[in-house]
Amino acid sequence: MSSRARYPPPGMEGGRGSYGGINPNPFHPRNPTQNDMTRGPAPGNMNHQTFHNPQQQQWLRRTQFPPPDLTVHEVEKVIQSEAVDSSLQDWKARLKLPPTDTRYKTEDVTATKGNEFEDYFLKRELLMGIYEKGFERPSPIQEESIPIALTGSDILARAKNGTGKTAAFCIPALEKIDQDNNVIQVVILVPTRELALQTSQVCKELGKHLKIQVMVTTGGTSLKDDIMRLHQPVHLLVGTPGRILDLTKKGVCVLKDCSMLVMDEADKLLSPEFQPSVEQLIHFMPSKRQILMFSATFPVTVKDFKDRYLQKPYTINLMDELTLKGITQYYAFVEERQKVHCLNTLFSKLQINQSIIFCNSVNRVELLAKKITEIGYSCFYIHAKMLQNHRNRVFHDFRNGACRNLVCTDLFTRGIDIQAVNVVINFDFPKNSETYLHRVGRSGRFGHLGLAVNLITYEDRFNLYRIEQELGTEIKQIPPQIDQAIYCR
Ligand SMILES: Nc1ncnc2c1ncn2[C@@H]1O[C@H](COP(=O)(O)OP(=O)(O)OP(=O)(O)O)[C@@H](O)[C@H]1O
Ligand SMILES: [Mg+2]
Repeated sequence: MSSRARYPPPGMEGGRGSYGGINPNPFHPRNPTQNDMTRGPAPGNMNHQTFHNPQQQQWLRRTQFPPPDLTVHEVEKVIQSEAVDSSLQDWKARLKLPPTDTRYKTEDVTATKGNEFEDYFLKRELLMGIYEKGFERPSPIQEESIPIALTGSDILARAKNGTGKTAAFCIPALEKIDQDNNVIQVVILVPTRELALQTSQVCKELGKHLKIQVMVTTGGTSLKDDIMRLHQPVHLLVGTPGRILDLTKKGVCVLKDCSMLVMDEADKLLSPEFQPSVEQLIHFMPSKRQILMFSATFPVTVKDFKDRYLQKPYTINLMDELTLKGITQYYAFVEERQKVHCLNTLFSKLQINQSIIFCNSVNRVELLAKKITEIGYSCFYIHAKMLQNHRNRVFHDFRNGACRNLVCTDLFTRGIDIQAVNVVINFDFPKNSETYLHRVGRSGRFGHLGLAVNLITYEDRFNLYRIEQELGTEIKQIPPQIDQAIYCR
């Protein structure tokens, strides 16, 4: 089979082992017919259209004002307000905005109340970081949680995958930090090292124009380096619970002034693997602290923790339905020994920009990655038993589009945000509905379209049925042809 037949790409040179066709920057869509569903002009567009030449605009207005019947006092007021106006225009005009993402977006992110980031009276430097990250307006979860978090209230927030929970807690955290007070003021806990790296990167980007020191600390890296780093100012610490607890117990990480704790993927952080560390950490914090819990899934087990540690929490639940509107889900009935063949067919038929392929064990990840290479496709793989340096490289390179397919365990199930992923394949079907939801949520980020394909064996059939029921969703049998419009726009 020719490599081109495997990845038949309009405007793409993809192919077996070739990386040329991957679109690592989805803001430059491959498909020129994409539909723009954004709501009104981007801040950048506003700048270009309205404020393109501020001097000229100002001159035009000055020649029109003041009308002859204004008093001297009124004239002064007009001039003052124009000065404020022009300084506002100046900072907006100086923003370095990324290209607008013109891909189709679903109501999961577009059904907002119409707030603007400026409505929250954020520091100008923070607003600059937000706009320069390409965020035009807050998403629904951001509209709900930013103002509440700014009031200091505890929050338990549930919103769908990829709808912007990270910024929903990072923005208030960055706003509340006093950059002149060199103590740890916010801790963001996440369950995996890769998610910690990704989240700290988001904090750094949003806080680019602030003088806030962000540190990331996780297992698998040198403890000594972290200890040295903590002797320098740190305002915001992002990390995994075990390492942060370790540093805190040693007395190098001081949390007595830490007034905000964010638990991202909170339900995972309350699994037996993490909960004891999380609870110990809380005891190092002041009693008057704010706790923000975020996830797309909150099983009932979270209630006990909530009752013990949160004070009159404000509950946000934006999940009237559980699955994303932009993701189409299919299953294919196969025998175990046919799975690789089936994957081969999917590779040849689907228009994959980037894919994540999930297996249920480390061993199966390695075996499958080998098989995929043998049948002539390129893939990376990642799992928790690999050395951290190697994991970092794979994560970094896959994110940058160096390879089309990534085979992984549930290490990448939660929180990982790679905008170019439009296909998720459950090579092994997951055991529970939370895992399923988070896995398929790796595609269709920020309301974009995506495809989830589940390979189902005879043994999986009851799980498939149960997960469908629990999520109230339909997983359809895969048709012989899949319309590209449902996952490539
Ligand atoms: N207001 C916004 N405007 C445009 N893009 C945004 C906005 N907020 C977030 N995004 C983008 O949406 C993507 C998904 O955001 P994020 O990773 O925070 O989702 P999430 O809700 O945490 O998902 P998950 O449940 O999978 O962890 C990111 O690429 C982020 O940059
Ligand atoms: Mg997240």
